[in-house]
Amino acid sequence: MSELLRFGVSAEDELLQSFDRLIANQGYATRSEALRDLMRDALVRSRLEEPPETAEILGSLTLVYDHHAHDLTERMAELQHDHHGLVISVLHVHVSHDDCMEVIVLRGPVREVRLLGEALLSLKGVKHGKLFVTLPSREITERKSATLSSHKHGHEHKHDKSPIRRQGV
Ligand code: NI
Repeated sequence: MSELLRFGVSAEDELLQSFDRLIANQGYATRSEALRDLMRDALVRSRLEEPPETAEILGSLTLVYDHHAHDLTERMAELQHDHHGLVISVLHVHVSHDDCMEVIVLRGPVREVRLLGEALLSLKGVKHGKLFVTLPSREITERKSATLSSHKHGHEHKHDKSPIRRQGV
C-alpha cells in the first residue's frame, strides 16, 4: 500500500455539515474514508469516459426478466455462449413465480463488455436492468496504467496528462 498523505480542505460550514450528515447516514466512520471513495469514484468515471477500446474493464450486469417470455432464456444463453470469454460468472435468483434476476459478471475490453451488456438489456422480455462498470483496482489509482495508456494507438490517454496527486487545497 502506498504512503498516506495528509492534506487540508476548506469548506463552508453548511456544506461540511450536510456532507457529514450524508456520510454518517451512509455508514462512513470517517470523513477521510468518504473523501477517498469520492476521489476513487471520480477517477474511475474520468478514466471510463473515453477509454481506448482495448482497455479492460470489469462489469456486473443485473437483469430482471420474465422467464416465460418467448425464447428469452435461450437467447440470453446464446449471447453469453457467443461471448463466453467475457463472462466470468452468473448468479441466478428465482425471484417470484414469473420473474428471475440474473447478475452476470463480465471482464474484457470496454467496447465488447458494453456491447454485450446492451445486447442483453435490449432483449424482449427483460423488464429492468443495468450495467455497472469499473476498472481493475490497480488502474484506479495509477497515473499510467498499462492498459489505459496502451501505446497501441501511439498516443497517451488525455487524462494521464493531468496530475492526480496534486496536494494542498
Ligand atoms: Ni429463475
